[in-house]
Amino acid sequence: MEKVIIDGGVALEGKITVSGMKNAAVAVLFATLLVDDVCVIENLPNISDVRISLEILKSLGARVEVLGESRVSIDCTRVRNEAPPEELAKKMRASYYLLGAYLGRFGHAAIAYPGGCDFGVRPIDQHIKAFKILGATVDTSRKERIETHVPSGKLAGDQIFFDCITVGGTINAIIAAVLAQGTTVIENAAREPHIVDLANFLNFCGASITGAGTDTVKIRGVEKLHGCTYSLVPDMIEAGTFMIAAAATGGRLYIDNVIPEHLEAITAKLTEMGVDVEEFDDAVLVSRKGGLKRANIRTKPYPGFPTDMNPQMATLMCMADGESRLVDTIWDNRFRYVEELKRMGAEVTVDGNTAFIAGGTKFQPARVRAVDLRAGAAMIIAGLAATGRTEIDDFFYVERGYDNVIEKLRGVGANIRKVQYE
Ligand code: EPU
Repeated sequence: MEKVIIDGGVALEGKITVSGMKNAAVAVLFATLLVDDVCVIENLPNISDVRISLEILKSLGARVEVLGESRVSIDCTRVRNEAPPEELAKKMRASYYLLGAYLGRFGHAAIAYPGGCDFGVRPIDQHIKAFKILGATVDTSRKERIETHVPSGKLAGDQIFFDCITVGGTINAIIAAVLAQGTTVIENAAREPHIVDLANFLNFCGASITGAGTDTVKIRGVEKLHGCTYSLVPDMIEAGTFMIAAAATGGRLYIDNVIPEHLEAITAKLTEMGVDVEEFDDAVLVSRKGGLKRANIRTKPYPGFPTDMNPQMATLMCMADGESRLVDTIWDNRFRYVEELKRMGAEVTVDGNTAFIAGGTKFQPARVRAVDLRAGAAMIIAGLAATGRTEIDDFFYVERGYDNVIEKLRGVGANIRKVQYE
């Protein structure tokens, strides 16, 4: 077993570099299944969700070659028309992109239900609705997997209006529609930067996608895609996590390889709370000298405040000068980390999707658990802020989405290390 030990109470200082975006990486990697050629993907984060995605591609017959740190070449020319291994598909959420990719490439798919973090119910009815509109039949009667196929052999473009804003549904519909006959129009689409990144990658490969980043995405189907070299956008959630780590420790971090525009909702809240954020072309400098002011937040789809920053921001709010309120409008059960934060002295009451955060907490070191990926990031932040030794169990969750986080934090002064135990 492994745990992470933090000897906290040290202000983080220096330069820290953000890696490529997890949620863009997993979409782009599965989208390479549509390409009968070699794709080189750069700025790929070294995280377990990426390693599992590459394992899945390899198991299907893709040639995957690591060209260097954060750079791989993927050739899906000889991918076999067979179901991906269930045990791998079940290990991650984004394996549901295999449905769109298989429908586009082979006209049918049988994929195990995806895994991922537990935030309550995570339906995929909108993905299924999109596939059906494009001409697929979808069978969800089996407990273990979803089966879908296109009776006519090829999906046909049409109008999709999503009932709710869904990142995964938008990505899956784009992936499915790229090689379809005719034009697909997705309305009420999600606008996250990783959707734009996926569309850019596919357009580099010869697809015809316009409007990504707005709520209407238009995809004109093409016959075939060719290979390309593509560099992923920086991870805004990793950047935001480091911004909060700087603020929580009263430090000063120059956070490099970011797109400041993607961070605007986070920057605005931190500024409101009394944190200094200076923007450069591809970096932000975050520092805090004074106290933290209370604030209220509602998580929203992009460009609103991201739900994937909920636990990290709640941790900072615990240290503010009064009661803050955080409403998560995206997931109905994202507050499982609160019990862990309470072990470190936080005073938080959760009612439904709202957390009432008392403020004024001086975090105390404790032994805590990462209950999911971003919850684990929150435990790191609280551990860095608390004077004394914090131990975090189940750190593998954090490694699903944060590239080399221990080394990166050590580089800016954190006393953090991973240890094995029986
Ligand atoms: N929803 C439906 N039906 C659907 C799809 C979604 O009702 O068919 C609902 C969900 O229940 C949720 C809301 O719509 O209430 C948003 O879900 P969305 O589909 O946008 O989420 P997702 O695609 O499953 C991605 C990220 C999550 C992130 C959410 C929201 C990936 C692989 N995952 O999930 O990231 O929280 O968007 O931004 O891209 C993380 O990185 O830690 C993470 C959990």
